[in-house]
Amino acid sequence: MSDKIAYSRHGDIAVLRIQNPPVNALSQAVRQGLSDGMARAEADDGVRAVLILGDGRAFIAGADITEFGKPPMEPNLPDLCTRIEASPLLVVASMHGVSLGGGLEVALCAHYRIAQPSARVGLPEVHLGILPGAGGTQRLPRLTGAEKAVEAITTGRHIKAPEALEMGIVDRVEEGDPEAVGLAYTQELLDQNAPRRSVSEMPAAEGIDWDATYDAVLKKGRGQISPATAVRAVQAASELPFAQGILRERELFMELMNTDQRKGMIHAFFNERAVSNLPELKGVEPRALQSIGVIGGGTMGAGIATAALLSGFGVVLIEMKDEFAATARDRIAGNLQGALKRGKINQAKYDALTTQTLTVSTNYDSLSDVDLVIEAVFEDMSVKREVFGKLDAACKSGCVLASNTSYLDVNEIAACTSRPADVIGLHFFSPAHVMKLLEVVVADQTAPDVVATGFALGKALGKVSVRAGVCDGFIGNRILATYRTAADHMVLDGATPYQIDKALTDFGFAMGPFAVADLAGLDIGWMTRKRKAPDRHPQERVPTYIDRLCEQGHFGQKTGEGYYVYEKGKRGGTPNPKIADLIAAEQQELGITPRPFTDQEIVRRYMCAMVNEAAKVVGEGIARRPLDVDMTLLFGYGFPRYWGGPMKWADIQGLPAVLADIESYAKEDAWFWEPAPLLKQLASEGRTFGDLNKEPLK
Ligand code: 3HC
Ligand code: NAI
Repeated sequence: MSDKIAYSRHGDIAVLRIQNPPVNALSQAVRQGLSDGMARAEADDGVRAVLILGDGRAFIAGADITEFGKPPMEPNLPDLCTRIEASPLLVVASMHGVSLGGGLEVALCAHYRIAQPSARVGLPEVHLGILPGAGGTQRLPRLTGAEKAVEAITTGRHIKAPEALEMGIVDRVEEGDPEAVGLAYTQELLDQNAPRRSVSEMPAAEGIDWDATYDAVLKKGRGQISPATAVRAVQAASELPFAQGILRERELFMELMNTDQRKGMIHAFFNERAVSNLPELKGVEPRALQSIGVIGGGTMGAGIATAALLSGFGVVLIEMKDEFAATARDRIAGNLQGALKRGKINQAKYDALTTQTLTVSTNYDSLSDVDLVIEAVFEDMSVKREVFGKLDAACKSGCVLASNTSYLDVNEIAACTSRPADVIGLHFFSPAHVMKLLEVVVADQTAPDVVATGFALGKALGKVSVRAGVCDGFIGNRILATYRTAADHMVLDGATPYQIDKALTDFGFAMGPFAVADLAGLDIGWMTRKRKAPDRHPQERVPTYIDRLCEQGHFGQKTGEGYYVYEKGKRGGTPNPKIADLIAAEQQELGITPRPFTDQEIVRRYMCAMVNEAAKVVGEGIARRPLDVDMTLLFGYGFPRYWGGPMKWADIQGLPAVLADIESYAKEDAWFWEPAPLLKQLASEGRTFGDLNKEPLK
């Protein structure tokens, strides 16, 4: 028998304990072990029941995702599930921690299920670009009804044990050692002569309006196909006999397994975890963190303070004047109200956070005891210089001094202090208490334990932290500036901002670039264009039509008018009729005859610009690995998760094809489209960005 399964005997009950840390994924050895364990129990004289449970922190977290894309190995999971359910013995699952995907599917093949109150169950396969493929779509609706099964499977959410009990997924919830309560429950069932109860033999769920459900799920998925495909599998459970339904599930599962979306989602799953795993930080202890200082209580400062408070840090926030301090306090209270409304905190916690854990002051001396301070004042080097001088004087020795700057040189900021080794960039995204990305910007002299502290803070705040080097815009904003420019060029050449936004949301972006610009505020781009004007390359094409709108005081959503016009109380905007005239005037001035663009060309140019700049960012060492770029775009810029990130997208397209397109665009604008040396190198060597993730550049 496989060493992944421990077999033991307790009277009439055989116990199969899965031992595959960290989360008991159903690897080949586990599947084989469970199959052998069932056979051994069935052959073991006097055994009347089998209890399946997991060792360590979970029952089973699902199929072993590392096996995806590799040749299948027997026994396969659906056969194992069928085999467990068909056993002549009474089978019970005792669930603790998580039972996810294939893990829940194994449990659904047991004849009874008992769970710890803290246990969570779910079928999250759609988040990996697939659907439950071991009977989950056929068995769950037989227990919960079609509607609840569709909701659970298409959202992939984790369901807590008490709710799972209500839904009929588990039969009993009981606190205690999983083996002890499992054995007692099994014994009780044996004593009652409880029948073997196979979910597959239960009546099929009544049908719902499948086409309407499919359409609604497809729309919600913004181009992601796995949730909608899962609807069809649940439909099969209600319309076909069980055995045929299983075949249909298998067919749909295999279809999804072969998609690029599955590859992108799995890439995202592993690299979301790998991104904060830096070899250079192995064995480096982060500094202790209990209280955090925040300078500036505007949009970002208030968000950062909120995130820190919600994660259990004491916060001291410094503003310039009493009235700004009061506004900052209100902003934070407003953010915390949101958390209260969503049930993330209760009223007592809210009161404690706003009155005791948060200090707002105008005096830098209040920072004397904080362990780390994050500056979020105006994006102006002279203001930052002054602030860092004050921090240097006020903060204790060993305190980490961080800047939330979007673009400015962290080396220059560090040089304003007597302790550059303690200075780092911690670049949050707006709203900082919601957005998952944190760029940890490492300056020339930043000490390794300060970098480790940046990552430790990110982890404590529940962020996905990415290491970035110093350059204008670091990883994300630098790449953004380039693909935004590609979009601007397309507008000058004939595509409308609205066609571009639509093409890109159809591709899967949460928002198009022009809607994003309206949201962020058009004044930001306007100021950046003015700041960069003196250093502009003579061949650089910079559209200025939108500056005309800014000159009239229209800055996007916050003023009610930008690329779109926004009506109070309404979500989203409608195209601003002034924009077409402004574009036409600039085209005329520049002698451009507008030409039509297909949506496909729009997406291709936008993506090629992104990939080319990203390859420069990796080639220059600003991002260490392509996966750092992928996670930055995924968690900070609304990049569709199912593409895995721009580098994964480029690998899927094939780097020679991407390079060929960039070279063809370079014939129109050699300066903007200059191919990245790294892209050329990889394409010529037949390698991929994925190869560089395994073996980073030296
Ligand atoms: N297969 C292989 N490895 C897995 C895994 C899985 N199903 N689930 C987690 N791991 C690995 C992680 O990659 C990580 O490895 P690392 O330490 O080398 O980085 C380690 O286990 C611990 O995972 P986390 O860091 O994520 O630990 P958490 O405690 O934060 O979360 C978890 C645990 C909730 C189980 C989370 O890992 C998770 O959501 N896992 C995926 C669950 C899932 O999607 N299951 C469905 C699989 S598909 C399937 O079952 C198909 C079937 O229907 C046929
Ligand atoms: P903001 O203008 O909303 O807030 C800045 C705050 O700093 C104001 O409340 C101001 O009173 C305060 N302040 C200015 N000088 C100060 C001083 N000497 N001492 C104490 N407080 C002072 O600006 P926002 O948007 O919050 O940006 C702050 C920083 O974060 C900037 O560097 C910006 O580039 C960066 N950033 C902004 C993002 C955004 O989406 N707004 C995203 C990521 C970073």
